[in-house]
Amino acid sequence: MSQRYQAVVFDLDGVITDTAHFHFLAWRELAQSLGLPFDEAFNEKLKGIDRMGSLALILAQGSQQYGDAEKLALADQKNAHYQELIKTMSAEHLLPGALETLIAVRDAGLKIGLASVSKNAAFVLDRLGISDRFDYVVDAALIQRGKPDPEIFLNAAEHLGVAPAACLGVEDAVAGVRSIKAAGMYAVGVGDPAVLTEADDVIPSLRDFKLSRYLTA
Ligand code: G6P
Ligand code: MG
Repeated sequence: MSQRYQAVVFDLDGVITDTAHFHFLAWRELAQSLGLPFDEAFNEKLKGIDRMGSLALILAQGSQQYGDAEKLALADQKNAHYQELIKTMSAEHLLPGALETLIAVRDAGLKIGLASVSKNAAFVLDRLGISDRFDYVVDAALIQRGKPDPEIFLNAAEHLGVAPAACLGVEDAVAGVRSIKAAGMYAVGVGDPAVLTEADDVIPSLRDFKLSRYLTA
């Protein structure tokens, strides 16, 4: 028996759980300590952007120049605070429909991957109690180019042993959807269709994820 899709590769933040608020708290404290502005609207721009890229955007709000060692120290400071915050996470932080989707995909015999640029992704999965529901979790430390580059989704497909064309990718960010499409996968957007215009299908949340809809297409 063969079916068109053999794996589903999920983004983490904004799809399976919402760590954006914890990133927000940690970045805001750092920005404020440097006398830089930071609010929820600015935080939106950081979704899906890796740690050093996010720091660069925050520092660009001011005129002071920082050397590489200083930037690394600032990023470490933010990350230490973020790690303190995410220690409080538990299964209660799973977004609606996330667990049910992971169960349904595995029950249907498809492989499951995680493609998050967060170096804390494995820890977050552990806190959520869902680590063993993934066949492969991309190690963000090994990824050279962030989304929208296809590298992270291609890495997931390769390690799952499934051709990209036989993978569904699930993302809430525009750059993430672009990464999925560039990898040659079918893109399921989670959010607003007016925003995720490049996705092949858009659902409001994983509560609305119906695997059969893609398998029979
Ligand atoms: C996700 C978040 C970003 C965060 C990035 C890196 O993509 O949406 O806001 O900057 O991961 O996370 P990390 O845990 O490695 O600092
Ligand atoms: Mg996301």
